[in-house]
Amino acid sequence: MEAPGIQYYLNIFDDYVQKFDNDTQSENIRLKIRHSYAVCNNIIKLSLAENLRSEQMRRAKIVAIFHDIARFLQFDQFGTFRDDLSFNHAEKGVQILKEENILSEETKKSRDLINAAIRFHNRESIPANKLDKNTLCLSKLIRDADKLDIFETSINYHLSNKPLGEINSAIELDLPESSQLHPGAVKDILQGRIVDSDHVASVNDLILLQMGWVFDINFQSTMKIIKARQYIPKLSRALSSNGKMDKIMKALNRRIEKVATDKVS
Ligand SMILES: [Fe+2]
Repeated sequence: MEAPGIQYYLNIFDDYVQKFDNDTQSENIRLKIRHSYAVCNNIIKLSLAENLRSEQMRRAKIVAIFHDIARFLQFDQFGTFRDDLSFNHAEKGVQILKEENILSEETKKSRDLINAAIRFHNRESIPANKLDKNTLCLSKLIRDADKLDIFETSINYHLSNKPLGEINSAIELDLPESSQLHPGAVKDILQGRIVDSDHVASVNDLILLQMGWVFDINFQSTMKIIKARQYIPKLSRALSSNGKMDKIMKALNRRIEKVATDKVS
């Protein structure tokens, strides 16, 4: 029997999320529906650029559409997208796929691969040396595809002219405004690593954390998109001016240039 294509899963996704799409919480639910589709489009682009085999690309699309499936229940039950105040949305997602029998048409091998990639998508890092080649590849793809859309969403949100006082707590994660950057977050970037979540105390720190993702990008094709779409300079415009900004941008640009232009063997 042939494995189901992406349309089969998009229908299941649409049916599942429809239950949560009502008037009182529509904005944040729709934000995540749009995000799931966007990540699916991103993963197709990356899979093509990385010459994935068709079966692995099919699995990548399934991972993308369902990677945030627990976000809907999370917002419905807790009114937040913060895992620390509710549940780990990656682990919960795997549980939902099982309970709803969503992957029942997949072979055990496919199911295991898809579940593993979803489980690892929000971890601080992937346990690379413990994973087989296919799991590692899917995990890397979903993390890059996810980040690309978070860059888009964050830029659109922060650089739009919001009416004063109109903040989206689902995006800002209930963090306070502050013109200062956490010294630990600045240090992380200047030393060439992703920002530790303990160093995020304000909306500005969260933006800096997102900019620091250039130290956690897996594929050159992803970095080329980040460079071409100027995500990092655009995000920097959302930060209030800070004495450290020049150094921060230098460190980030150096990384982008290195990965985007390096000859890969
Ligand atoms: Fe997620």
